[in-house]
Amino acid sequence: MLPFAIVSLLVTVSQGCSRHSGAPDTAVESSYGSLWPLPQKVRFSSLSLKIRGSSFQIRDADESSAGPSCSLLKNSYRRYYEYIFCDGYPVVTSDESYELSVNQTYAVLKAPKVWGALRGLETFSQLLYEDEYGAKNSNLIEISDFPRFQHRGVLLDTSRHFLPIKVILANLEAMAMNKFNVFHWHIVDDPSFPYLSRTFPQLSQMKDLLTPCYSGPTPSGTFGPVNPILNTTYDFMNLLFKEISAVFPDPYVHLGGDEVDFECWKSNPDITKFMEQHSFGEDYSKLESFYIQKLLDIVTSTQKGYMIWQEVYDNGVKLKPDTLIQVWKGNQQQYQNEMAKITLSGYKTFLSSPWYLNRISYGQDWTSLYRADPHNFTGTDDQKKLVIGGEACMWGEYVDSTNLMPRMWPRASAVGERLWSAKDVTDVNDAYSRLAKHRCRMVERGIPAEPLFTSFCRHEYKGN
Ligand SMILES: *[C@@H]1O[C@H](CO)[C@@H](O)[C@H](O)[C@H]1NC(C)=O
Ligand SMILES: *[C@@H]1O[C@H](CO)[C@@H](O)[C@H](O)[C@H]1NC(C)=O
Ligand SMILES: *[C@@H]1O[C@H](CO)[C@@H](O)[C@H](O)[C@H]1NC(C)=O
Repeated sequence: MLPFAIVSLLVTVSQGCSRHSGAPDTAVESSYGSLWPLPQKVRFSSLSLKIRGSSFQIRDADESSAGPSCSLLKNSYRRYYEYIFCDGYPVVTSDESYELSVNQTYAVLKAPKVWGALRGLETFSQLLYEDEYGAKNSNLIEISDFPRFQHRGVLLDTSRHFLPIKVILANLEAMAMNKFNVFHWHIVDDPSFPYLSRTFPQLSQMKDLLTPCYSGPTPSGTFGPVNPILNTTYDFMNLLFKEISAVFPDPYVHLGGDEVDFECWKSNPDITKFMEQHSFGEDYSKLESFYIQKLLDIVTSTQKGYMIWQEVYDNGVKLKPDTLIQVWKGNQQQYQNEMAKITLSGYKTFLSSPWYLNRISYGQDWTSLYRADPHNFTGTDDQKKLVIGGEACMWGEYVDSTNLMPRMWPRASAVGERLWSAKDVTDVNDAYSRLAKHRCRMVERGIPAEPLFTSFCRHEYKGN
């Protein structure tokens, strides 16, 4: 368990009268400066304070129980977004709340858990702005903040294209700047298997695992999805998931289960025979359910929870009550119906349908990302409580390290605010003003986030 952590940001100040430098091309100036996502409660004063780097320091408050042994906080003081692990790993139920106040002598950050202290340090860094002489300023402010949704995720796909570790780490930093807390790593898929297994070093070539496809009466030499009729498949999965559950400390494994192509299964005579023996008829989703059901039992035996795409639920596979169901299909009406249906049957769910960032179009599409809300469906309060959040997805067919970051940011930031800030934070003009500044801040920090519209940044991106 983590101790009660209190951080004092010791600030030396002299009163000044400088104002925020104007945001370019913004009709509406937000009264909340460049805060993103907007904290739940903010009391802003127009009084600004000068902060000198030479005398600025961050230290533990005397009453803090975090203490010098908490290496996570120590390091985050130097570079707050470097997530290293202090007394365990964060989980989606971790307390991320914090309170931050800045007065003439002190900035005080209080958080029940280190996770909240990290969030508060990001917010504090967003309060600082440069005046026309380049000096750092902050306004007097009181903030009380916590996330609206527990699960605020970004999905990255490393199966369609290679992504260097450097880029994956930069994306994690950008996630921290936007208060995301779940990295959903879609490591493997049909096109490639970049997960290097210790138990099965030859995994990416193991062909016995996949279904041989047939062309008429003879094997065509190509392979389809995992072969669900062999016992060896499940022996293999058992060992693989044992390894994976040790390599990744996270409490959840995503089992996929979307868009399985049945054509290869249909072509294979052994599978046809198996289907007859099990009275599955012509319904290949029953075979898929058979396979997923066995997989779920295997994952359960590793003490992990599981997440699945909505089809697994739609196909009627028996699920554990604490399964997380990811909704990704359909237009607004369809995904709202799906969320209503899933929560009515008592399952927890999170939303991705409106947040497929790999889909791009001309213009400011962040506004539609921003307007989507996981709670916008017809259902009771109890149903709404089963919605744990959402995930922005970046599928990799057309994305590699050359375009990942600009395509992801700041569009994912719109999702970040929807999932963190209060439900009624919906003013798109106010959001534009803050997001344009937040985007420039990401650029200044080395993240090549694309512009929202015609604009300039004080510190432009100069390439790497
Ligand atoms: C500033 O905050 C500190 C810490 O909460 C408090 O002790 C001090 O009295 C405050 N000073 C003013 C001028 O409000
Ligand atoms: C596969 O396992 C099942 C259940 O343990 C068993 O009944 C069946 O004979 C096995 N099949 C083969 C080909 O070993
Ligand atoms: C909620 O969804 C309905 C469609 O079901 C849509 O008309 C409405 O604009 C949405 N509201 C918000 C706040 O997104």
